[in-house]
Amino acid sequence: MTTSADANMVTFPLRRPGQPFPPEEYARLRERKGLVRSTLPTGHVVWLVTRHEEVRAVLTDPRISSNPMHPGFPRAARTGGVPGQDEVPGWFVALDPPEHGRFRKTLIPEFTVRRVREMRPAVEEVVDRLIDAMLAAGNSADLVEDFALPVPSLVISSLLGVPNVDRDFFEAKTRVLVTLSSTDEQREKATKEILRYLGRLITIKERRPGDDLISRLLATGTFSRQELSGVGMLLLIAGHETTANNIALGAVTLMENPQWIGDERAVEELLRYHSIADLVAFRVAVEDVEIGGQLIKAGEGIVPLIAAANHDGEAFGCPAHFDPGRSARHHVAFGYGVHQCLGQNLVRIEMEIAYRKLFERIPTLRLARPEEELPFKYNGVLFGLHALPVTW
Ligand code: HEM
Repeated sequence: MTTSADANMVTFPLRRPGQPFPPEEYARLRERKGLVRSTLPTGHVVWLVTRHEEVRAVLTDPRISSNPMHPGFPRAARTGGVPGQDEVPGWFVALDPPEHGRFRKTLIPEFTVRRVREMRPAVEEVVDRLIDAMLAAGNSADLVEDFALPVPSLVISSLLGVPNVDRDFFEAKTRVLVTLSSTDEQREKATKEILRYLGRLITIKERRPGDDLISRLLATGTFSRQELSGVGMLLLIAGHETTANNIALGAVTLMENPQWIGDERAVEELLRYHSIADLVAFRVAVEDVEIGGQLIKAGEGIVPLIAAANHDGEAFGCPAHFDPGRSARHHVAFGYGVHQCLGQNLVRIEMEIAYRKLFERIPTLRLARPEEELPFKYNGVLFGLHALPVTW
């Protein structure tokens, strides 16, 4: 933690190499009274929210907005961060009610527990195919490249109707958008390329609708073409990089805690434990509001730290202990309130199937390098692993 002219000010983000799990600083910040003043690399001064109860309060307060068009909205990266509604119509995670509800209402039926259950055979098929390929290639693999990334990537592209062969394209563009050090030019180019790509795909689906989400959304007529491209982009991006990081980190934790392999409760605890989307739920106050005894003035930025909330000892006993036996369901790994993750039911079945099949079919799976030497991601809005060398 670095102190500046203001002794209480912390610089941010706080993750450091050598800290695979939520930074120790979070525990100290949680103990401070009120909220914590912090400067982002962008120069924005924000309020950091670290306690579980207060993170939930921020994420449900109608006086606090997700819309980057409001003055004072904080940005994660030195440059723009992931795009917002201002740049991409249909990027509804950056909209407030009531506009946000139009998107959410149309999409919810596609991600219910029932709908997602129907996707199980397709997810199982993808997982089996990837394990077949790993086994055929020998007795070692990069579990990120060969498994954790392609599982959600293939699943979300099939769901949307994006050809699987275009995986490399959208994965590469997504990487630019979620990397904190990408420049404005790189972000703008990646955004335009994805939108152009989806625009072409929508034209194809207009002529020849398929059994996919984009075709179904087109048929509803609810969204303009531009909005539909934005919705497609949000689902494509949110749908693979997030889950990939959680699958990879979770595989490490299960290999280190083999007594929990095969226990379905592990999924919920892995979501809490790793809290990979620590830096995604940025907000701004649009009216004066008090959170945790702190007055936040209209126009001040707020960063609810999801990993800090999920490791708050008041909400989860012995939070640093990986314990699938606990009840972790109240974690905020998927956010909270109206923007709570749309894909969470899908994530749960992807993780459950991925681990079940992986450890059943490769029971001797183990790390090829000690955990401390793994290439963790410290330069992104999402925490994860660049690679995961394994052997069996
Ligand atoms: C481990 C995997 C995932 C994690 C940890 C995660 C986390 C999150 C979080 C924290 C939010 C709230 C953002 C905010 O409040 O500003 C969110 C929203 C969202 N997520 Fe996920 N996500 C995951 C996977 C997915 C998948 C697979 C999909 C798509 C199928 C998806 C689609 C979305 C969408 C569309 C939103 C915006 C919802 C709204 O604004 O109404 N996510 N996610």
